[in-house]
Amino acid sequence: MRLKRTHFIEELIREDFLGKEVVVSGWVLRRRDHGGVIFLDLRDRTGLLQVVFEEGVAQEVFDIADQVRIEYPVSVKGIIRRRPEGMENPKIPTGYIELSASDVEIHNTSKTPPFPMDEDLSQVSEATRLRYRYLEMRALGGHSPFIFRHNVNLAIRNFLSERGFLEIETPFLTKSTPEGARDFLVPSRLYPGKFYALPQSPQLFKQILMVAGFEKYFQIVRCFRDEDLRADRQPEFTQLDLEMSFVDEEDVMSLCEELLAHLFEKTLGITLSTPFPRLSFDKAMELYGTDRPDLRFGLELKEATDLAKEAQFQVFRGAVEKGGIVKGLAAPAHFSRKELDELTKYAQELGAKGLAWIKYTKNAASFEEKWASPIVKFFPREVLERLEERFELRDEAYTLFFVADTPQQTNLVLSELRKHLAERLKLIPEGMFSFLWVVDFPLFEWDDEEGRLVAVHHPFTHPKLEDLDRLESEPLSVRSRAYDVVLNGIEVGGGSIRIHRRDLQERIFKLLNISQEEAEDKFGFLLQALEYGAPPHGGIAFGLDRLIMLMLGKKSIREVIPFPKTQRGQCLLTGAPAEVTLKQILELHIMPGWKEPSTQGEKNLLKEGEEKDE
Ligand code: AMO
Ligand code: AMP
Repeated sequence: MRLKRTHFIEELIREDFLGKEVVVSGWVLRRRDHGGVIFLDLRDRTGLLQVVFEEGVAQEVFDIADQVRIEYPVSVKGIIRRRPEGMENPKIPTGYIELSASDVEIHNTSKTPPFPMDEDLSQVSEATRLRYRYLEMRALGGHSPFIFRHNVNLAIRNFLSERGFLEIETPFLTKSTPEGARDFLVPSRLYPGKFYALPQSPQLFKQILMVAGFEKYFQIVRCFRDEDLRADRQPEFTQLDLEMSFVDEEDVMSLCEELLAHLFEKTLGITLSTPFPRLSFDKAMELYGTDRPDLRFGLELKEATDLAKEAQFQVFRGAVEKGGIVKGLAAPAHFSRKELDELTKYAQELGAKGLAWIKYTKNAASFEEKWASPIVKFFPREVLERLEERFELRDEAYTLFFVADTPQQTNLVLSELRKHLAERLKLIPEGMFSFLWVVDFPLFEWDDEEGRLVAVHHPFTHPKLEDLDRLESEPLSVRSRAYDVVLNGIEVGGGSIRIHRRDLQERIFKLLNISQEEAEDKFGFLLQALEYGAPPHGGIAFGLDRLIMLMLGKKSIREVIPFPKTQRGQCLLTGAPAEVTLKQILELHIMPGWKEPSTQGEKNLLKEGEEKDE
């Protein structure tokens, strides 16, 4: 390198650089040739600078400048000067200055990028962007999510260190952790037939760290889960994981509120109002049909099973007779027949048998016009009046939507319909951050497929003390000491107070139908540690990708992960997952019944395979 950078571009806006000679380095975003004058827009990580090669520049320098093309990395020496009047660009901080070049060095050439580097790339296919992720990130504005992410990490580390938390690392090659997803397995070469599992979270290790007396732990850590991917799910993702000793729910929750308030203040300049509202699991299901409700808008669900019983509508009665419920919501709008058909189809795609609707007009001329729907004829007048009260129909126009089905199915459909209607009717305020805690989760749920109880969170979650005496007799009625943080309808974190005594942990395993041998085999190390003075402890983990996605108003966590996988789990940049050689597979002894080849035939087979691989 002949020319070495003396300054980053953002430094050069200071008045005292005017008339000074500097060397800047970066990539060429745009190039304009005005016959005898060459303009380059040069950018480094910090900004954009106009560079001018004009009359007076040595011919050999001009000739080099003439070869420069878009995205070439170059260094330019020159004098900083004020732009001529009328040539300023007030949109960028360096829009008032330019570099009058005297020397240039081309460090490398560049092929023409597959997409423009100075425009909004949202129209470019995601596949192309991911394949050329380094160009997407280098494009104008492409760094900003990652600079933001850096700032979030820094703010987290500063806040937690100040509160006495230690960042401690935990292993990636470990044993299976029970967060409920499928494990990624890593075969062990040294122990044929044995496997490491990549951690779904550091759950067990952070509990062991509490037994080890660290008291306050945190880690910004990668977790691995082999599950079906969505916009807010990746096979590897990052948690802000933390754990504390001698604490109860309130301690963890208030620390999290302070932490989040600090983060929003430091990185977005937004003041969050704390404490966050709290909703019990039961209430969340009742009002919103989901345990992660979006509270940026109303559209609360109301149960109408009692009223349905007084109507002659067979669809509702049938569902109720089978143990189902009738629930609905009131959307503050009228819809065309076509729109109602679309909404019905939407509900059916979610598994609803149908979607009943009633068009309501408060000050209609007649009762018939006030309540318009093919199903009103089945409803006595008095029941309709009670619907009006129940759904608090105060404005002029509403459409009531009802679903009749099992409680689960009804809640599922209505919770999705609620979000769908809020978007459609533009009821969601822009730029709003609506946090809430969901608490009082059930400890267990029944898994039909497995025919046993499973933990709603994970098996180390402490039951509520007041419910402990029903643990064996009525396990499904027992609530846990778990809490989830929800932001704008997305679960961004979850945690709990843990079990810290072996006897209780064993009772839970028993209820989960985990045999003593299995418990010993999988979690023996934890059970043993609990016997050596484990303190009461609890913690939480935030999905950091999700939190950052929401803070930046992005639609997918892929946008805030530098090298994400596609919806189908592929890395388009590297081509992972990829095939490996037979030799690599054989070395790992993962073939069932594998043993070293002993006969000549087996040895030949192995050799053939290896040759093919090469
Ligand atoms: P949990 O399984 O709820 O808890 O995970 C914590 C948070 O991590 C985020 N998350 C994900 N983000 C992106 N892609 C995924 N596949 C994914 N899966 C989860 C969510 C979630 O709220 N050990 C416990 C925490 C504890 O009890 O302390 C745990 O991992 O935002
Ligand atoms: P049907 O009598 O099947 O024509 O249904 C009359 C109306 O009730 C239609 O608008 C259906 O979409 C609706 N409907 C049918 N089944 C259900 C259900 N389980 N819950 C709510 N609405 C339903």
